[in-house]
Amino acid sequence: MSGPRAGYLERIRQGGMVLSPRLATAFAEVPREVFVPEGFQRRDGTWAEPADPDFLDIVYSDDVLVTKVDGRTPVSSSSQPSLMALMLETLDVRPGQTVLEIGTGTGYNAALLSHLGARVVSIDVQADVVERARAALARAQVGNVRVELADGYAGRPGLDADHVIVTVGVAGISPHWPRPIVAPVEHAGTHPVLRIATDGTARVVTPAGFMTAAGPLTAAHPFPAPAPPGVFSELTPYGEIVFDPPLDALAYRDLWYAAGVWHRRATHAAVPGHEQSCLVLLDDERTGGATITPDGRISARGAQADKYAADARAVLDRWLDLGRPAMGAWRITLAAGGDPAAPILMPHTWEL
Ligand SMILES: C[S@@+](CC[C@H](N)C(=O)[O-])C[C@H]1O[C@@H](n2cnc3c(N)ncnc32)[C@H](O)[C@@H]1O
Repeated sequence: MSGPRAGYLERIRQGGMVLSPRLATAFAEVPREVFVPEGFQRRDGTWAEPADPDFLDIVYSDDVLVTKVDGRTPVSSSSQPSLMALMLETLDVRPGQTVLEIGTGTGYNAALLSHLGARVVSIDVQADVVERARAALARAQVGNVRVELADGYAGRPGLDADHVIVTVGVAGISPHWPRPIVAPVEHAGTHPVLRIATDGTARVVTPAGFMTAAGPLTAAHPFPAPAPPGVFSELTPYGEIVFDPPLDALAYRDLWYAAGVWHRRATHAAVPGHEQSCLVLLDDERTGGATITPDGRISARGAQADKYAADARAVLDRWLDLGRPAMGAWRITLAAGGDPAAPILMPHTWEL
């Protein structure tokens, strides 16, 4: 590989991702730019066109490429390559197996699956997205991928799939999907990727954030605690720094995950002084509550600041008392919930 593509595999591996030789070959050989012919939104909000000098540099970075927005909300994208890699390694697809993908997007992930020897049926709910993905797959001469326009909730009746991979954030798993399943399932305002085994038990594979699915996979199941409007600022400190240096990104996610198990109002918010969004226990008004930042400091605001600060302290102490359990340590049981006309299986009980 030469040009911007030369360091692509290194960039995917940078955060610790270990690529199997066959997946490394797939990433090396499937041209990502073919799947984003109309460009994508840069981090600064401007649109990158194929003729732009930085186009290929961004295409071959380890970053998500947002390919469609509705107002300011991303509604289709090519996911972050290292996250795709981890989900594909978790899927562990064998040549000749059939994979049902929910969320075709650009078609790049389906092309990687095809390169791994899978037969792929990929479903997307947006007609223009389906058309573009079909055209890209044809241009890249990718075989064994069928793209269909539908809501992924119904699965693909009659398809004997060996695996399901979901590449859009869902509130729960459709009962119409065969197992095993790899899917980002909402928890505490983020979308940790779960692997749901054939026996129905689930474990977290990695923290992640995804765009939210349309239709029954989320519609009738609003997240328990959406993000507060605006920045969570003007906070009163309720205690000192606990972690010096602060928790690293993964350990902070472990604490965040546990908070979501123990507190029904755990979600995310932008907190001044922190680049990444932070763990917040949000009150019912959605304007107050408490935050625990990566340094372990608790701060709070609003009419119920004292109560939420105490809740945050209880969450933090419990996590420390248990020896800082990792998110992958939880055994998750799913249970049907929400709209009886279109139920989904949501995380329901957690055990260490
Ligand atoms: C993050 S993108 C998928 C990335 C894709 N796998 C790729 O390689 O580019 C998420 C996609 O899920 C689709 N989507 C959202 N809700 C859906 C649903 N209920 N059923 C099927 N697709 C859905 C969106 O239209 C969007 O294109």
